[in-house]
Amino acid sequence: MRLAKQQIARQFSRAAGTYDQAAQLQNQISQRLIDSIPNELRGVVVDMGCGTGWALQQIALLNQPNHRFELTAIDIAPGMIEVAQARVPSANFHCCDLEATPLADQTADLIVTNSAIQWCDTTAALKEIKRIGKLGGLLLGSTFGPGTFAELKTAWQEAGDQQQRVHEFDSSDTIRDILHQLKFENASVESENHRLVFESVDDLLKSIKQIGATNASTTRQPGLLGAQRYRDFRAVLEGRLSRDGELSLVFESVFISARVG
Ligand SMILES: C[S@@+](CC[C@H](N)C(=O)[O-])C[C@H]1O[C@@H](n2cnc3c(N)ncnc32)[C@H](O)[C@@H]1O
Repeated sequence: MRLAKQQIARQFSRAAGTYDQAAQLQNQISQRLIDSIPNELRGVVVDMGCGTGWALQQIALLNQPNHRFELTAIDIAPGMIEVAQARVPSANFHCCDLEATPLADQTADLIVTNSAIQWCDTTAALKEIKRIGKLGGLLLGSTFGPGTFAELKTAWQEAGDQQQRVHEFDSSDTIRDILHQLKFENASVESENHRLVFESVDDLLKSIKQIGATNASTTRQPGLLGAQRYRDFRAVLEGRLSRDGELSLVFESVFISARVG
């Protein structure tokens, strides 16, 4: 399932005010990307899909006491840009599709992207990253793999729903192939599962909504059938909760590191 860009922008703008409350995993992953920035790296940093600017703020902190980085951030959701801009006023912001940015060719020394390119055409996103990256520039990114939201996929199926509601995520192998085709160098793509545990169905659904991944948990079918399907979906999750005493949600993180070739 690929969502229309406008819908993605709307979904994330709506989530901008609540995102940080539910983004502990995203922040943890961002921190890992930031920790992998080589000490000697300096210059232009671009955050593709910056969201509320948490990573941007951590990178800005690395600017003290020396001005090490010039920060640029891209996001398609105006609501996200607004929050990020208030957080890191010194950065340059562009509210646009990260697959087609207004940035000049070969300008970035470091491109960071966390939990954003799964909403894009992966090839188009990586092509744009390659275009704006300087030769030898570093890409540090993460996205989500196909293991993500597996519990929700099966819950919808058990509720008798045949539609594909949960996002289709590219596998590590696919991403590795794309990086190879685009002639990135020293590519490393590693996946890792994180399990988040929730005490109630409401908590789980609320958390998905807060991070803007709403399409995984709502029905787009209009009318009575849609409402009934949604009740059945919730009933499946309630059944699991009473059987296991908790509900879990797996996120498969895919860590990417590569040099622009
Ligand atoms: C899950 S959030 C991650 C935000 C941030 N990088 C973080 O780690 O917290 C995904 C972000 O990607 C943005 N996004 C999704 N598709 C995009 C696109 N095509 N171009 C630019 N931004 C996009 C969304 O608006 C949202 O802010």
